[in-house]
Amino acid sequence: MVEEKVEHTIEALLQERRTFEPPGPFASQANAGDPSIYERANQDPDAWWASQAEELDWFHKWDTVFEGGFPHHKWFVGGKLNASYNCLDRHLASAGDRVAYHWIGEPGEERTITYKALYEDVCRLANVLTELGVARGDRVGIYLPMIPELPVAMLACARIGAPHSVVFGGFSADSLRDRMNDGGAKVLITADGGYRRGDIVPLKQNSDKAIAESPSIERVVVVKRTGEDVSMQEGRDLWYHDLIADASPERDAESMDSEDILYLLYTSGTTGKPKGIVHTTGGYMTGVSSTHRLIFDIKPDRDVYWCAADIGWVTGHSYIVYGPLANGCTSILYEGAPDWPDKDRWWSIVEEYGVSILYTAPTAIRAHMKWGTEYPAKHDLSSLRLLGTVGEPINPEAWVWYQEFIGGGKTPVVDTWWQTETGAIMINPLPGITTLKPGSATKPFPGVFADVVDDKGKPVGKGGGGYLVLTRPTPPMFRTIWGDEQRYLDTYFSRFGRDTYFPGDGAKLDEDGDFWLLGRVDDVMNIAGHRISTYEVESALVDHKAVAESAVVGRQDPKEGERIVAFVTPKAGREGDETLLQELRAHVAEVIGKIARPHAIIFTDDLPKTRSGKIMRRLLRDVAEGRELGDVTTLLNAPILDEIRGKSDALKAAGEEE
Ligand code: PRX
Repeated sequence: MVEEKVEHTIEALLQERRTFEPPGPFASQANAGDPSIYERANQDPDAWWASQAEELDWFHKWDTVFEGGFPHHKWFVGGKLNASYNCLDRHLASAGDRVAYHWIGEPGEERTITYKALYEDVCRLANVLTELGVARGDRVGIYLPMIPELPVAMLACARIGAPHSVVFGGFSADSLRDRMNDGGAKVLITADGGYRRGDIVPLKQNSDKAIAESPSIERVVVVKRTGEDVSMQEGRDLWYHDLIADASPERDAESMDSEDILYLLYTSGTTGKPKGIVHTTGGYMTGVSSTHRLIFDIKPDRDVYWCAADIGWVTGHSYIVYGPLANGCTSILYEGAPDWPDKDRWWSIVEEYGVSILYTAPTAIRAHMKWGTEYPAKHDLSSLRLLGTVGEPINPEAWVWYQEFIGGGKTPVVDTWWQTETGAIMINPLPGITTLKPGSATKPFPGVFADVVDDKGKPVGKGGGGYLVLTRPTPPMFRTIWGDEQRYLDTYFSRFGRDTYFPGDGAKLDEDGDFWLLGRVDDVMNIAGHRISTYEVESALVDHKAVAESAVVGRQDPKEGERIVAFVTPKAGREGDETLLQELRAHVAEVIGKIARPHAIIFTDDLPKTRSGKIMRRLLRDVAEGRELGDVTTLLNAPILDEIRGKSDALKAAGEEE
């Protein structure tokens, strides 16, 4: 099954032969301009990572750079530091007045937050959290829109050594509840609501629903964002503005061990509940600050950098909060949607603030392509000098469009491969050194050891395709899954043995040894740059009273990215009609969040199964993608496939839901 998918994608990619050398003026000023950086890191990776860790401020220097190996590794052992100190305090003397964030609210408000102001807000909230009984090691849930209070909350937690667990504001009450319960959060920080395309997201209402079944949560801190009327439970719920009004703007940062937990962040797995990815302090901060500085070529006193992700995902944790702030750089923080009030919102922000570096996802680039070049053309985008992408394989057409219509045909485009688990970018070009190829993430970052192997774990060599693996730990990688060490080992270190990390992606090496990422090979879909497991969507569907059984697959489209297709068998007496279809889409949104709503639902009386009763998702994927069917010899109920295929084609012809 995996083989088929990998080969299929390789064929499509082989046609791409364009290359782009680093532009001369860019190369001559680049932070990483010397190609020997790779050799240096290869020969002595520990010394290389130590040189990157030295860019941070340590209260106490480490005794050993690296201990252990996969699956258990430690970095900067014995070192003491604080992430919030590195993001704030150390910049105050030289750059306290520098802007940390230009915040832009969706309805149009603007706030300029300097490093000094951010520092004070973080200290205030850190003091408040202590008063609320949050101690070192306690977990704090954060469920906020993209407002300045979100990074403030994260840094306040980091300051007092309380791991945060941020839940994306688009997730439902049930998703929030599950994450709070798994992490055992003591306090939740949320808001009365958030804005999205002019609508209000009822965050407090969702929180109330979640907390009703999250017994560990003692207090709820509520930020006033929309001014909506919300219910406040006496003794449990407190207004953020009341709490910080009297709090001191000074607070020492806790001295944390390099291996102390900085945060948990949940991500989808193939089976069961989401996994709490555990990131620690010293290695993570070293990884995010060095990759941010070298890959985005950050000049802190000049650049206006914009990572247009949501902080609720790892991209925002690493490249809106910890990386950029550790580097003392000025960022844009935009609350809303790219097409609100109109489709040129992003480009008007780039023009107004003189954004020089933009980092976004292929799914956003494709949306802009669809909307048309007239929107970027309305604005002066000449301040842009570097573009980046992350989240899914970028099709060469989108890469070239991005460079031409957003980058004015002159900017390098860095395609960066990484995951929630890796914490920081692992495979990427260095824009002053690397020859770019649209669709290729090119080479492992210095100090990262990656390869492509076959089924048996044997390197495929140049020109071959197979499974991506990392063969040596790097500092920013996660250390375990919260509360489930066995799952950590089983998920990542069983496919090719305990000493090899398997991220779950297919990849190909070209003749130059450059990496081309080919998407997931497990039952995890990549929807708009975010991982959603087929299992979770299936569970949400079966949770509906009218559903007997369901199977969910991701349909790959080289231009559109991956889409969720659900095959659903209704219970006897219930018709698979338009009403049920709408009910199911709404139900999935309710149980998981809108992002997981199936793009298409195909009702069927039965699902293709093996003789042992396992649903054959790979055949359903073939159906969804309109491919020749793979091996059907083990299939129990073959005729059902023709029926499903007929329905699937009819559905496509009728046009699916956007
Ligand atoms: O399949 C890969 C894809 O996104 C997955 C990681 O998802 P998540 O943990 O949600 O983090 C997304 C942002 C870091 C990977 O296993 N992916 C990420 N970046 C790329 C990519 N696939 C191809 N090219 C990329 N640049």
